[in-house]
Amino acid sequence: MPNVLITGGAGFIGSNFVRHLIHHTDASMVVLDALTYAGNRKTLSELPGNRMEFVEGDICDEPLVDRLVSATDVVVHFAAESHNDNSLKNPWPFVQTNVIGTYTLLEAVRRHGKRLHHISTDEVYGDLELDDPERFVEERAYNPSSPYSSTKAASDMLVRAWVRSFGVQATLSNCSNNYGPYQHIEKFIPRQITNVLSGLRPKLYGTGENVRDWIHVDDHNSAVWAIIERGRMGETYLIGADGERNNKQVLEEILTLLERPSDEYELVLDRPGHDLRYAIDSSKLRKELGWEPTFADFSAGLQDTINWYRDHRDWWEAGKQATEAKYAAQGQ
Ligand code: NAD
Ligand code: TYD
Repeated sequence: MPNVLITGGAGFIGSNFVRHLIHHTDASMVVLDALTYAGNRKTLSELPGNRMEFVEGDICDEPLVDRLVSATDVVVHFAAESHNDNSLKNPWPFVQTNVIGTYTLLEAVRRHGKRLHHISTDEVYGDLELDDPERFVEERAYNPSSPYSSTKAASDMLVRAWVRSFGVQATLSNCSNNYGPYQHIEKFIPRQITNVLSGLRPKLYGTGENVRDWIHVDDHNSAVWAIIERGRMGETYLIGADGERNNKQVLEEILTLLERPSDEYELVLDRPGHDLRYAIDSSKLRKELGWEPTFADFSAGLQDTINWYRDHRDWWEAGKQATEAKYAAQGQ
């Protein structure tokens, strides 16, 4: 029965990963999370205490990280500042958590000879033209656009260097855009769902032509566990589920599923430096590890997600006004 240290386990993907391990493995877990604005203790409150211990703390806190890493078998590193729009307003927390925090974890796993899986994003590769026949592959050169993606790229580079120079036992994954339950309402899909549920008009940046490659969070997490179990040490795996759609299409689908007119939204100021398109080729993961996504039908996954936000107003409603006020102040 492995003991798994999960950083950022009170956030969107990390908390769904905790649930995944509870349902599909007999692992015991320690969650390390600083409970920033994006972390929510409530997200983990109904989980069995005999499977998971929660530690509130910062991944930059070296003595704490050292103690927790020394007592675990494997570290799965989700903790990050994760929102592009926030990184454009104040990049510093992104440098601190994403770069210094990853460095702090790497030094601890090096000292104690522990296994690390590092969670990253496809945004490290920059963006593609809308008509580019290519998709991102593992060997593609990094070309990040924003403070968020550049600090994630820096963290990936640190992991790769610690593997090569110090023989640290680590794997990396870069995933496309996730959707599903417990995602912070600042992000595109939950922002629009909760706008409609609050009687507000959804907000589309620019013209809505930007393409994202959507994957359900449970499919991301099943891939992460497959890499931890069977991935080759030092390797990077891209995770994606062939879910390319432009933002306008996604928004129209949300409106239709919520039984609203599909043009009932506002076009707002575009994001500076807005990446045009992301697209993942996940052949390596599928061929080497036999992984396949289970949420083949995006509409069905979206409907489940809408139902979740409709049924869990207590989880998001208190923060809605502040989130929208922050966007309104920047014309979005
Ligand atoms: P999130 O913002 O929902 O959660 C991040 C969590 O990390 C929060 O619980 C927060 O409290 C915690 N945290 C932040 N700074 C911390 C610190 N210094 N010390 C300890 N904990 C800290 O993010 P998410 O969407 O769940 O993303 C998780 C990871 O997945 C990130 O590394 C992100 O780059 C990556 N990723 C996200 C997506 C996506 O679509 N959301 C896609 C690919 C990769
Ligand atoms: P987001 O969820 O912030 O993820 P990322 O920037 O990491 O891709 O945004 C997804 C897409 O949706 C992105 O192209 C920006 C766009 N977007 C909107 O059109 N309106 C919004 O209110 C938000 C938050 C995002």
